[in-house]
Order: sequence, then structure tokens, then C-alpha cells
Amino acid sequence: MKNLKYYLQKAYKEGWAIGQFNFSDFSELKAIVNSAVSLKSPIVLGTSEGESGFIGLEEAVLMRNLLRKKTGLPIFLNLDHGKSFEYLKKAIDEGYDMVHFDGSKLPLEENIKISKEVVKYAKWTLLRRGFGGQEGVLVEGEVGRIGTDASRIYQEKFEIKEEFLTKPEEAVEYVKKTSLRQGFGRQAGVDVLAVSVGTFHGIDAMGESPHIRLDRLKEIREKINIPMVLHGGSGTPENDIKESIKLGIVKININTEIRKAFAERLLQDLQKGEIVPYKFLPGAMEAVSKVVEDEIRLFGSENKA
Ligand code: G3H
Ligand code: ZN
Repeated sequence: MKNLKYYLQKAYKEGWAIGQFNFSDFSELKAIVNSAVSLKSPIVLGTSEGESGFIGLEEAVLMRNLLRKKTGLPIFLNLDHGKSFEYLKKAIDEGYDMVHFDGSKLPLEENIKISKEVVKYAKWTLLRRGFGGQEGVLVEGEVGRIGTDASRIYQEKFEIKEEFLTKPEEAVEYVKKTSLRQGFGRQAGVDVLAVSVGTFHGIDAMGESPHIRLDRLKEIREKINIPMVLHGGSGTPENDIKESIKLGIVKININTEIRKAFAERLLQDLQKGEIVPYKFLPGAMEAVSKVVEDEIRLFGSENKA
């Protein structure tokens, strides 16, 4: 199986994006993977510190392995919004394909310092695990603040503060200073960069979907030469998503839409008085599969596995 780096580079060259779909339990996970199977799409499974704390890092890796083996699909696992080097180190040691260091609340210098440690550890994994045809573990960096921490449904109108948006010059400094020389003239650094360009975690119930600041994204794209990640993908207008992919976005993270679909349908079905899990869960799983299918089609990763 080709590795995640291969698919991210392919997406970058060909102008599509890979979806990252977060999960908290095995029913959600199966529902996500079912959609990837029916659309023959590569996918990234995401677990935050909270989600992986609930599932277990080792369990998440074992489930990825199992589903990879069963489906033959390129299914990858990312530790999403890791806040400390120690936690990311654990995820790397367990066998995650990628780790996202979220140092967005730290001063830039501090963010760079820890990111660099993460890059060093992730890239050396190649040696620790033995080459085996694999790249080291991939690293997602972040500059700028996505705006909200929680994935919830906001009743009030939500607006991203201008100061939270990624500043192009800070992105340049971050990419440059987190890059290491590896010998034989090779450079290693963060493989993708999460940028704050107007989206936020959660959905705005007022129906005023967050628009992507395409102007800002374009400015960043012109200054850095690595592909970028869009967080807060739920509830974003379709056209903005398509335009952002043209501007170098290669991975789009979706969580709230999945949680919302799962919880709403589950609540409905439980109210009917059903108490058998394998009878009340399929409806919620179907709802999740529908969300993931729509996103895969929108991101253009169908038939790219
Ligand atoms: O890291 C996860 C995503 O950024 C989730 O975004 O809450 O809009 O689905 P979302
Ligand atoms: Zn996020």
C-alpha cells in the first residue's frame, strides 16, 4: 500500500483533497470506512486527544490495521490537535501515520520549538521502526488559530477574529524554522500546514456558514511551498471548499457534521424504545455514511484509492 505522503502529494498535484473524518467509537468508524469503500477513496481517520483518550491509542491503531486489511484501502490515522510533545510521542510510538501539533495558542517561537521536536521524533521513527519501505511519521503543523476549540452547534452568529487568521509571514517563518537537514542534502519538516482562513470548529445554527478567506489563503500559498490543511470543514459552503482545494488545500477535517448526524439519528431511534444496540445503531451509522459520502464527492477523492 502506498503511504499517506504519496496520497497527499498526488492530491496536491492533481487538485483534490483527502477527507479527515474524526470518530469516537467503532460504529462511527465502520460507517466512515463503508463510505470510503463504496467510493474507492483514500481517507484519514482522525482522533483528537479526547477521542483517542476514550478509544485508546493502541485500539485506534489496531482498528485501522484491521480495516485496512479487510478493505485493502489506503486508510490512515492522524492524531488531531495534539497539544503536547509527550502525547504526540505516544501516538507515534503506537503507530499513527500522522500527528498534528496544535501550538496555535502558544507564542510563535514556542510553537516552532515544540514543532521542531515533533518533526525530529516523527522522522526518526523511520529508523526506529526499520525502513520497511515506509516514510517516517508525517507531521501537520499549525499557524494561526482556528477560532473555537469545541465542535458544537453555535446558536449565536460566529465570526473569526481577524487577529486569529494565519499571517503569511508567520507561516513562512514557521515552515523555515521547523525544517531540519537530514543528510544527503535532504530536508525534512512539517509535511502539511493547518491554516486559519475563516472556518471554525462547529456549525453555526444561524445557517450563516463560515466563508473561507480565499484572499488570505492565496497569499499564504504564494509564500510557502507545502500543501495546507483546512480545519473546521463542517458547514462550509461547497464553492469555497472547491476554491480552497485549487489554492493548495490537500486535507479537509470534518467532525461536527459526523457527530451531529450520529447523535440526532440515534436520539430519534432510541425514542422508539429500541434497546438492542445492533438494532438502534444502524440508523445512526447510515446517517454518518451519508455525510462522509457527500464530503468525499465534494473533495474529489472518489476513485483515487
Ligand atoms: O480537527 C477537526 C476539524 O477541524 C473539525 O472541524 O468541527 O468543523 O467538523 P468541524
Ligand atoms: Zn480542527
